[in-house]
Order: sequence, then structure tokens, then C-alpha cells
Amino acid sequence: MLVGVATQDTGEIATGLDSAQAFADAVVGWQRIHGRNDLPWQQPASPYRVWVSEIMLQQTQVSRVREYFARFLARFPDVTSLAAASQDQVLELWSGLGYYSRARNLHRAAQVIAAAHAGTFPDRFDQVIELPGIGRSTAGAILSLGCDQAHPILDANVRRVLARCFAVPGWHGERATAGRLWQLAAGLVPDHSARRYNQGMMDLGAMLCLPRKPRCGDCPVSGHCTAVRNDSVERYPGKRTAPTRPERQRRMLIIRNRLGATLLCRRPEQGIWAGLWSLPELEMESNPLEWCRARFGREPGGWRELPPREHGFSHYRLRMHPFEILLETDGCRLLDGDRELWYNPEQPQAIGIPAPISRLIRALSTPEENT
Ligand code: ADE
Repeated sequence: MLVGVATQDTGEIATGLDSAQAFADAVVGWQRIHGRNDLPWQQPASPYRVWVSEIMLQQTQVSRVREYFARFLARFPDVTSLAAASQDQVLELWSGLGYYSRARNLHRAAQVIAAAHAGTFPDRFDQVIELPGIGRSTAGAILSLGCDQAHPILDANVRRVLARCFAVPGWHGERATAGRLWQLAAGLVPDHSARRYNQGMMDLGAMLCLPRKPRCGDCPVSGHCTAVRNDSVERYPGKRTAPTRPERQRRMLIIRNRLGATLLCRRPEQGIWAGLWSLPELEMESNPLEWCRARFGREPGGWRELPPREHGFSHYRLRMHPFEILLETDGCRLLDGDRELWYNPEQPQAIGIPAPISRLIRALSTPEENT
């Protein structure tokens, strides 16, 4: 077990050097024998070749990138040739890879390097990360895989390995989780053999620490892995939690006549429940009794508020506050026969009623809710 590196229990992040080194040694030793060492951009490795490969690999599988990488490098062997090309020539060699902004950024970055760094790919992190299309992980990959500098990387594979090993809760899109993962990644990358270590972390994620059915029995760091120890590997990395949906509150008027029929209105043709028949709705601030007087020109025979109910839509939750009003008439002139009707659940008309509204009307005609 790693001493002093983050655990869920302690929340502690420290990198006791010995344990971080033991972790890195295990990854490096495994990568040397079992990792991927014959990828085209590794032979020879250079910042330019690693850069092109990393950008291609951002949204594309290794097997497909191999073919595109070979053609791209044959046509643009260095920054200068890429910078001198037209955008059309670059895009032509990118055709079929998709996400063409990647190619446009690559081309623009080559022109920046030609102008600002005399065509030599910069080897300082602050200069690399300033280039178009290069973020923190890609800059780390270019400098570690390209020049063996000790910078962390955090692509999807590395995130999975770290999230499991250190039982990092949460989704990587959340600030706290991302911060913790970066802290771990930075604390573990060794001063020496950073190239092999980072390649090893990516290889572990791609070959053993798989999203489903990970091969923990073959993993060189399973002895350091909190998730293995707690038998919770499948819980990490945490998934994105659905964004909390806003809540809207509405009074739903259940206006009943003496025959037990309920007033329904047709919903507008646009929006939620478009064209269906529903209950009249009021804002929470409106007074249903005043509404009733204004609408029917008479006092209600009785009324009561019922417990609220919730219904979820994709973009918001509707909290419905049913408000029942009894009218002492058999019916009432409807404002517009096409937009209003009296609905009797005992003799239902063939009309579309949203399920939660239908449930509400039916529940109210049952004795339990009617007390
Ligand atoms: N994905 C991103 N970088 C990679 C690399 N160097 N090897 C394999 N897959 C990768």
C-alpha cells in the first residue's frame, strides 16, 4: 500500500517520496516489458512527432491514427513544412479523422512556432501550453514523451488508473475531483523515466485498467490500489451526476361540477404537453378563489388544498400544488368549446391527458384522497 498518498479515508495528499517512487518503479518496470513500445511516434520520439500524434489521438483510436500519422509525417516531416503548407493541404491530410478544428489549430500552432521559435518546437512548458489547441495534459505529453521531461499527464486512461488507485470520488469535470487527480498525477511523476512512466500509465489504462472487467490480477500497481483493496474498482472513476434541474411550482386547479366532472383546458401547441388536455394552472401567487369568481361569476361551494406532487421533465421539475374547487352547478358555459371541456373520469372522452394529470384526477375520485 502507498503510505502518505491520497486516500479517501484520510483525504490526505502527500507524496511520501518512497511510496511515490515505488509506484512509479512498478509502472516503469511493467511498461518496459508489457507496454506499447512500437508506436510510430515513439520511433524516434520528438516533440513534433508526439505533438501530431497526441492531437490525432484526442478523439481517434490508435489503430486509425497509425495510418494517418504516417501519411501526415511523410508530407509534413517537421514544423517548418507544416507551417508553410496551406490550410487546405493540411485539411486534405486530415480528411476522415473528423474534428477539423484540431487540424486548423495544428496548422496555426506550426505558424506560431515558425515565427516565434524559428521553427524549433519549444521545450518549455509555459511556451508549449500557449500554443493553439494545446492544454495541460497535451503539453505534459509532448514534453514527457517527446523530451523525457517530468510533467504529469491526465488523459482518460490515466484518470481511470488514478481514480481507482487512490479512490478519488466524483466526476473529473468537477473542479475538486480534477484538482485532486492533477495533484496525484503531479505528485507521482518521477524525475527520471518520466517518458516511460507516462506511457506506462496510458498503457495500463488502455490494456489492464479497463472501464469494465479490469484485469487487476495482471496489474503491477494492484498492491497500491485502494479500489482493489476495498473491492470497489467498478465504482471509479465517478460518473457525471445529472445536473440538478430547476423546480417550477404551479397551482393546478381541479374544478369539479356537481356531476363530478373536472374542467380541462387544451395546452398550447408549443411547449410542454403541447396540444394535450390538462388542468388550469395558476402561478403560486395567484388566488384560486378570486380566479374562480372572475371566471365563473360565482362563489365556490367548497375548496381544499391537496398535498403537492412532483413531475420531472428533461429541463425542470414541476411541483404541482393541487387546489380543488367545487362548483354548485351541473356545468358552466365554456369559454371556448375547442379549448375547454368538462371531463368525467367515469365516462372518459377520447382525449390526450398527460399521465401525471390523469393520475391526479383519478386519485381524487378515489375515496382515500377524497377524505
Ligand atoms: N493516447 C494518447 N497518447 C498516447 C500514446 N502515447 N500512446 C498510446 N495512446 C495514446
